[in-house]
Amino acid sequence: MSQKTYKPKDAPTLSPEVKVDEPREAVSSEERLQIERPSLRDWMDLRLGWYGFVRKNLDEPMPAGVGWWQTLGNLLMTLLVFQFITGFALAMYYSPSPDSAHASVKHLTYEVGLGSFIRGLHSWGSTVIVIAVVLHMLRVFFWGSYKKPRELTWVVGVIIFQVILGFSFTGYLLPWDQKAYWATVVGTRIAATIPVVGHALLVFIRGGEEVGALTLTRFYSFHVMLLPASLILFTFLHLYLVRRHHIAGPVTPAKGAPVPFYPNQLFKDAIVLLFGVGLLIYLAVALPPGLEAIADPTGTDFSPRPEWYFLGLYELLKVMPSGWEVVATVIIPTGITIGMFALPWLDRSKSRHPAKRQWIIMSGFAAILLIGLMTLKGILETPPEHKKSEATLAGSSDIPKAEATQLESLGE
Ligand code: HEM
Repeated sequence: MSQKTYKPKDAPTLSPEVKVDEPREAVSSEERLQIERPSLRDWMDLRLGWYGFVRKNLDEPMPAGVGWWQTLGNLLMTLLVFQFITGFALAMYYSPSPDSAHASVKHLTYEVGLGSFIRGLHSWGSTVIVIAVVLHMLRVFFWGSYKKPRELTWVVGVIIFQVILGFSFTGYLLPWDQKAYWATVVGTRIAATIPVVGHALLVFIRGGEEVGALTLTRFYSFHVMLLPASLILFTFLHLYLVRRHHIAGPVTPAKGAPVPFYPNQLFKDAIVLLFGVGLLIYLAVALPPGLEAIADPTGTDFSPRPEWYFLGLYELLKVMPSGWEVVATVIIPTGITIGMFALPWLDRSKSRHPAKRQWIIMSGFAAILLIGLMTLKGILETPPEHKKSEATLAGSSDIPKAEATQLESLGE
């Protein structure tokens, strides 16, 4: 029977070289004892082959010139693991129904030990993840690392990005407070502006004409089942592709032979990871998550505001003249998404150097500038606590006029 030929320097004693199933005339009694009664470490390695797997990953060749920018992928992975763990802890207390959702979040925030901290880690986690994923994408974009043979690594990445935004959108509703409710009213209403299928899509997402009990259970099942399953699947696929094609070196190749991932790059990864996780813990402690009043579908005293990373699109919608909303809700987002998926094929230049990819870099800049400036505008114009206690949705001077008009033009 053939055995693995991988012979790492300091593999566990019985590791792959020992041909357990072959006749062994010249085996000493000591060796025979080792084979028949392997240590736990050897037994695990013989059964799982973990040593070769770990070694292979630690030996992953890093081209010369690779450094801090290449730490973001592993940072993301760690943050996602945190997100899964804190999400699981929250789910043990959360109740996905309009009657009890708000009370369950209130209970876990203010009465359960460490509840506010865990919730803070989870809600700030979504923000830090979005920042990390955007930085990771920008690094890949400016390095031109999406080019042959890494086209599918990029495409899978774009799918992951959509899944992450899906997590944020569905998670936002779960506390069932005013902020959550009205942001979802506006967010789901945007789906209805899609020509032809818009209304059917709205009813599908909401589970009816209005945002209500079915919307909450629907968002919850997306948030804890479909999206995590998709994220795990696509992340594994992404990592498999990263390993298969290895990391691309700098745009102008640096002098020197590739070096193994361990120890230099792993050290850099660990530093960035400590910084990222430290920042997350700091935010969760220094700025604990709040909870607004319970959602009131009949109330008209709340100025809806989406999460900050959707603010850019929301602001774009507000500046659109009446009748042109579809440009902000459908045409621009779909155009950007298609452009992102098709990027490896749109960029036909052979070189990865930004100076040789001028129109791609310029288009990227234009999209980043548009979204960035609109997001900034949204952040600057966000009213304190998002709350307008004396205002009414249509007509009050407290609600920005454009916002009220926009809601009306979206049909709410
Ligand atoms: C769950 C989220 C993600 C995880 C855990 C992840 C993980 C990683 C890791 C560990 C690497 C190698 C190290 C590095 O370059 O930083 C990598 C590379 C890469 N990632 Fe991601 N990534 C994620 C999301 C994305 C997204 C959203 C995109 C793009 C839309 C993307 C595109 C790429 C590409 C093209 C590479 C190869 C880069 C090169 O060869 O230089 N990734 N990713």
